[in-house]
Amino acid sequence: MSRKLVLLVALLPIIQVYSANVNWWEDTFIYQVYPRSFKDSNGDGIGDLNGITSKLEHLKALNVSGFWISPIFVSPMVDFGYDIANFTDIDPTFGTLKDFSALVAKAKSLNLKVILDFVPNHSSDKHPWFQKSIQRIKPFDDYYVWRDAKMVNGTRHPPNNWLSVFHGSGWTWNEQRKQYYFHQFTPQQPDLNYRSPALYQAMKDVLTFWTDRGVDGFRVDAIIHVFEDARFLDEPAIPNTGLPVGHYETLNHIYTRNQNETYTLVNDWRKHLDSRPGGKKILMTESYTGLQTLPSSMKYYTAGADVPFNFMLISNLNNRSTPLDFKRAIDGWLNIVPAGYQANWVVDNHDNNRATTRFGRKRADQIIMLAAILPGVGVIYYGNEIGMEDTWLSWNETVDPVGCNAGPEKYYLTSRDPERTPMQWNNSTSAGFSTNKTTWLRVNPNYKTLNLAAQLNDKYSHYSVFKRLVDLKMSSKIKNASTEVIIVGEHVLGVRRKSGNVITALLINFRDLTIPVYAAGWMNLPEIMTIYTTNHEWMIPPGSTLNTTLFNIPPSGSIILQSNG
Ligand code: GLC
Repeated sequence: MSRKLVLLVALLPIIQVYSANVNWWEDTFIYQVYPRSFKDSNGDGIGDLNGITSKLEHLKALNVSGFWISPIFVSPMVDFGYDIANFTDIDPTFGTLKDFSALVAKAKSLNLKVILDFVPNHSSDKHPWFQKSIQRIKPFDDYYVWRDAKMVNGTRHPPNNWLSVFHGSGWTWNEQRKQYYFHQFTPQQPDLNYRSPALYQAMKDVLTFWTDRGVDGFRVDAIIHVFEDARFLDEPAIPNTGLPVGHYETLNHIYTRNQNETYTLVNDWRKHLDSRPGGKKILMTESYTGLQTLPSSMKYYTAGADVPFNFMLISNLNNRSTPLDFKRAIDGWLNIVPAGYQANWVVDNHDNNRATTRFGRKRADQIIMLAAILPGVGVIYYGNEIGMEDTWLSWNETVDPVGCNAGPEKYYLTSRDPERTPMQWNNSTSAGFSTNKTTWLRVNPNYKTLNLAAQLNDKYSHYSVFKRLVDLKMSSKIKNASTEVIIVGEHVLGVRRKSGNVITALLINFRDLTIPVYAAGWMNLPEIMTIYTTNHEWMIPPGSTLNTTLFNIPPSGSIILQSNG
């Protein structure tokens, strides 16, 4: 054996260990499927599992590593699946366990990972556990958070001032049990009590049930709400919010959010998932964060979450934000991600207006470009790949409980229906989503021109741009590269990544005006660079070169450049 060969053989085990340590989600995009709206296979106007299975080739073509599906479990659908009446069976609207197995089998054959939504904070009030809890049947009697009424001058009041995220008191009186139960969301979503050992184990068994059926991990819903302080003290009011009484943001939620026990619980789930066969499972936790609460998000990493969702691009930034605001938010997250963990960037989800509304139609690609070039995982929502827009819906068409709670005057400010309308596959009936002309939420009338089929062969479409962005995210040219977020001017943000001699740079114009940039000087770029991609509207062919000394960025334009290294 030659000396070189001996060395190679000696190194092999090290190389294998290294590659085995890279988790499948690192530096990839993950796609969110909202099952009611992705694809309807049986013509009832509501999306279902067989519909998703029939469209997995689309996800494969996008080259995402996997997809997470909002809840598909048995549910009265008060909160469209986030009120679960059986955690281990599929709602008939979506199909059967057999359909689910077929979905997993096909995903596996395409090497796509399947992630389920795990909703640990609450069940439906129709769950048999809750019904038995009302009757004080053991061990279900303490599966939920029950408290006696506070009596004031002979009148019954909730035990304390805690509020529901969805407005009003978080307590609802149950006449049969003669106690109040706590619900952080609607009264039909009673909170589960993790201080009950039997409930604690029952929810862990739910994770086992689905990992046994081949799932590759979980998105954990509303994790920050899972524990409440056991003293049940009133939460302090935030002075002068100007918000109506009962509005969730009028209290400082020191006793009902991010309690210490929550991190211990996540850690226990982590260990449990690590003990399951079938490869490393991903844990993605839903915790909304502001810059002030970043440290609590970081604690989810160390507790065991791989992707504690970073919602900065959703809740902290909007079309009034400046490049400085973006820099603060991005650096704020990047600088404190604990060693050994990856950052992540959520572009859109089913609870917030789409990026096309938050930043403006022409800036939709910009946000995905940021998620692509920044280090770590990008999380997108169905329709992002084609630049889908929110759908305006009337009060009569509104079904989301948050919109309905706000009433006919204000529903449009809070309703989550606009971002949940059916995926626009083509320009046929109901945008190719369903054979039924009537769908659970109305299809956006722009589907005639804004649809996947129209974008597939257009090299400047959102779809084509997105596919290049997915390739960039996974490219060795930015893997482990240094990252600098640069304010290129009052209206232009830059991101510069450098790996060895290769520089990859993004410039985005926040304004609807043409802006000249001295990119080479301000971002320390080589004079001549290759265009990797522009946003959909700009339309310069990828591969052409650009002199970076001084060039104009068109209104709301954005561009990714690469040096030849
Ligand atoms: C999460 C979900 C949201 C749901 C709520 C209650 O925030 O994303 O859609 O309404 O939890 O389960």
